[in-house]
Amino acid sequence: MTQDRQDRQSQDQRQSPGRSSRKRAEPRRIVVAVSAGIAAYKVPELVRELTRAGHAVRCVLTPRATHFVSPLVLETLTGHPASSSLFGTATPGSSDTTAAEIDHIALADWAELVIVAPATADLLARMTAGMADDLVTAVLLATRAPVLVAPAMNVNMWEHPATRANLETLRARGVRTVGPDAGELACGWEGQGRMSEPVAIAAAASLALGSDSLSGEVVLVTAGGTREPIDAVRSLTNRSSGRMGFAVAAEAARRGATVVLVAGATALPTPPGVRRVDVGSALEMRDAVLAELPDATLVVKAAAVADFRPANPQDRKIKKESLAEGGGIQLELVPNPDILAEVCRLTKEQGSHRVIVGFAAESHDVIESARRKIARKGCHLLVANDVSRSDAGFDVDTNAVHFVSPDGEVEDLPLLSKDEVAAHLLDRVAKIRDGLR
Ligand code: PMT
Repeated sequence: MTQDRQDRQSQDQRQSPGRSSRKRAEPRRIVVAVSAGIAAYKVPELVRELTRAGHAVRCVLTPRATHFVSPLVLETLTGHPASSSLFGTATPGSSDTTAAEIDHIALADWAELVIVAPATADLLARMTAGMADDLVTAVLLATRAPVLVAPAMNVNMWEHPATRANLETLRARGVRTVGPDAGELACGWEGQGRMSEPVAIAAAASLALGSDSLSGEVVLVTAGGTREPIDAVRSLTNRSSGRMGFAVAAEAARRGATVVLVAGATALPTPPGVRRVDVGSALEMRDAVLAELPDATLVVKAAAVADFRPANPQDRKIKKESLAEGGGIQLELVPNPDILAEVCRLTKEQGSHRVIVGFAAESHDVIESARRKIARKGCHLLVANDVSRSDAGFDVDTNAVHFVSPDGEVEDLPLLSKDEVAAHLLDRVAKIRDGLR
């Protein structure tokens, strides 16, 4: 059987309804198309990110891209030919690097996703025009797979009306983009034009691919802040918008999981395919989580749970007039139960293979605090975010997180959208699950 047929058979198996939830996710097939920009030096790292995530990767290059990254490096990392020629391209899966059969068509058909990284201004223009005069553009024209481009160029080229118009046309055709980021550019200019970091491109790839990797799983997510009542109208709460947890719930649903979202204070709409349970206080959140826990195979606790609550909440509004002239109120606070620690303890007692992920909102000593926290709570992964940053943590669309493992090992992610963090997190969760079962 050819590799191509094997790959397709695997895909058919993935789509069959009777598939066991315990089966490992099959590799997804990604073509990385490299064009001639200095950012090509990051492509080996991108390939490593994608293969680490379990994907099958093939690389193609424009002839000039070979000046920026060695095909040999890409061949070594993927275990497959990395060609820059329209003629004599080996078929996907062939170990014969000299095979003269084509083929850009086979490669275009094989791909479930094509990533163009870096995508230079010239390549974007040639894609827009529908050219097919080299292997990269021929694959791009022939493929029916989704295409994700990671632009990288000088800031003036990026801002040029021609590039803007090309991007608009490509987006209208369904092409997705990731980046570019702003910063110091290789050309000496400062501004937007840096190719996104490989980890961000890999996260965008996960989103573009879609996936049924969580089919058969029941994912319990908590999101938003708790509200601890002081009286009939006032409460203690925090700045959590719910965005991080909602992004995880939405992505888990897209990946085929049954998702229950226990939501604290938030104004967000329920993501499609998600069952939502609204709660107010930490005690209500605990009750809801423990009620849903027996069915849950994965738990992600992104909610910002108040550690303390007023000891004696009043049923009626506390009237200012009832206080002594100019006097204040003394609020006695009592500790709330630690829901995450309780979930970890119960899971251990039950000998369950449930995967549990906590978040950690830290304002300083982020990593060391998170290491201590994961040891205390006993979960499989802790996602630490620095909430003192204006572009991360509470009430923004982006987050910069660190995945902290029980052994103290840390994976740092760059600034990503919360959707991308969710995609990356669920890739990681699927791997933890595969290791446990
Ligand atoms: O909602 P957004 O605006 O998108 O913001 C996202 C976020 C900053 C809220 C999110 O990324 C985040 O960090 N969530 C965890 C906030 C938090 O409560 O951190 P913590 O370090 O205090 O708690 C650690 C873990 O224990 C968390 O998983 C928390 O849900 C859990 N916990 C905490 C206290 C408690 N009594 N019970 C718990 O289960």
